[in-house]
Amino acid sequence: MVDADAFVDEAVEEIRDEVGDANAVIALSGGVDSSVAAALAYEAIGDRLTPVYVDTGLMRKGETAAIRETFDYMDSLRIVDAKDRFLDVLAGVTDPEEKRNIIGEQFIREFEREAREADADYLVQGTIYPDRIESEGGIKSHHNVGGLPEAIDFEGIVEPVRDLYKDEVREVARELGLEEVVSERMPFPGPGLAVRVIGEVTEEKLAVAREATHVVEDELEEYEPWQALAAVVGKATGVKGDNRVHGWVVAVRSVESRDGMTARAQEIDWETLQRIQSRITGQLDNVSRVLYDVTHKPPATIEYE
Ligand code: XMP
Repeated sequence: MVDADAFVDEAVEEIRDEVGDANAVIALSGGVDSSVAAALAYEAIGDRLTPVYVDTGLMRKGETAAIRETFDYMDSLRIVDAKDRFLDVLAGVTDPEEKRNIIGEQFIREFEREAREADADYLVQGTIYPDRIESEGGIKSHHNVGGLPEAIDFEGIVEPVRDLYKDEVREVARELGLEEVVSERMPFPGPGLAVRVIGEVTEEKLAVAREATHVVEDELEEYEPWQALAAVVGKATGVKGDNRVHGWVVAVRSVESRDGMTARAQEIDWETLQRIQSRITGQLDNVSRVLYDVTHKPPATIEYE
């Protein structure tokens, strides 16, 4: 474990040294990693940091409002509504890696424009230790790790939490006084809900994955999972009221892990599972079935695509 207090001082100092009198940008994702990196950088250089949050439309329920609230104290915060542009470029795309690449590219486009406007020479990133290992291993293209530095010609890249594991980042978040919704929040993938709907990304599937993920995170909080989520995995027949419906099938997943590289499916009691089922099928007319995923990683991954 790190000494969080000493870590904050050193990180702030290091950012000041690296950035000097220049401007910097950071892409906020809503997750704890980029939030901590942003808070450290803001402490180091104040409004010379422009934190940019791109609302891709692939985010969790209430994410944009939470970001606005958490980072309200940063005058330079930029919130970009890019929902329609992301849906447009994703239309008709079904391959998981292609989806990731398209999202990554669109994200770069949005961010590039903001970075130019902010006249930024430096890029701050919330890359943590396991991100580096996974992308070096080439398991998945994590868009928030690759892409950006190559696409934009920055003078330098600053990664203040590059050597930390997730639990250490959370400790630093607490030390910085970030709100609990940020410091204790479950990890969320860069490509967002797009990897929680199998096949084409549509507004309807996203709405199901978003609401169901919200129910699952809420109901399973007490199990303290590394990550709990819901994914739209297909369609199946059901009966709702007096009618047969061809509705969405939602898979629920809850895993324990230290770094996301391996994970164990959690044992959840029947009553909780039934409550999740009834909340999801009750709130969403177009969902006919809810499944619980018992597969560890390996052989499965945590996300569905
Ligand atoms: P998987 O699904 O590979 O996920 O077992 C491991 C961890 O990484 C997150 N994840 C991603 N994060 N971009 C990201 O920034 C991605 O493309 C991506 N895919 C998965 C996932 O949520 C889990 O915490």
